Amino acid sequence: RTLSIIGVPMDLGASRCGADMGPTAIRNAGLVSRLEQVGHSVKDEGDLVVKRCSSLSVPGTASSLRHLDEIAAVNERLCEAVAKAAGDGRLPLVLGGDHSIAIGTVAGMSSRVDKLGLIWFDAHGDVNTAETTPSGNIHGMSLAVALGCGHPRLTGIGGKTEKVQPEHTVLVGARSLDPGEREFLKKRGILVFTMRDIERLGIEEVMKRAMDRAADGTDGLHLSLDLDGLDPCEAPGVGTPVPGGIRLRESLLAMELLADAGVLRSAEFVEVNPLLDRQNRTALAAVELIGALFGEKIL
Ligand code: ARG
Ligand code: MN
Ligand code: MN
Ligand code: MN
Repeated sequence: RTLSIIGVPMDLGASRCGADMGPTAIRNAGLVSRLEQVGHSVKDEGDLVVKRCSSLSVPGTASSLRHLDEIAAVNERLCEAVAKAAGDGRLPLVLGGDHSIAIGTVAGMSSRVDKLGLIWFDAHGDVNTAETTPSGNIHGMSLAVALGCGHPRLTGIGGKTEKVQPEHTVLVGARSLDPGEREFLKKRGILVFTMRDIERLGIEEVMKRAMDRAADGTDGLHLSLDLDGLDPCEAPGVGTPVPGGIRLRESLLAMELLADAGVLRSAEFVEVNPLLDRQNRTALAAVELIGALFGEKIL
């Protein structure tokens, strides 16, 4: 396969600076050579231009959307870059950056794929809106936007408002949901696998059920993987760590199962923040996951 790597050095959607260094950290962990070793041809498209966070600092308050203008502008460009890559037959692999960039990735893919399934691997729901957000951070709203709910500057990116349908959307790894997010998910009947479900069913069964939902009746799926879905002991370099997460070995199996299913159309790995890390562990974990997702075999 031919992959397009698109870096998005964005941290305006989060409260803590440093996720903008995620793409560099992931590349430095050996991403491209790992993909080439599996036999893929890789086109690294470099990083989009994102304004510096420090020059734009705005206090975070609930119900205001921090850095809306710049986040909307970057996601417009990301949407175009993703749509172009996919349109030219390359598989977009987007490197974050905070999770607000899923807005552009999903918008770009939904303009190329008729019915897109979505697996959202995350400790969080990211389904807040201006009404429910406790922080004003847009990285906590990107899944809601993909489902068509949120500020029109964000939902208006790309063609249709609803980029994915709730019945084709699955959350894996949830363990920190705000009250408004629980409402949102229940109201729309979105399938959520919490840590408790993963503990009881095992990650293999969870992924089977998740793919059944997200890939059934769709034209393939997008994986949006927030590194804080992993346990912070193995992925400490994230801005909003939540204990009791998915272990690296379980996450690797999840990636292998996705690879085997052959339904992946695009992927993004977000929230890697090397400023909060030690020895680039989180980017190294991301590269392990990406290797497994794109067909690395142990034997
Ligand atoms: N639910 C919290 C909020 O909306 C945290 C969101 C964290 N999101 C993330 N992509 N890390 O502010
Ligand atoms: Mn910042
Ligand atoms: Mn998260
Ligand atoms: Mn997230």
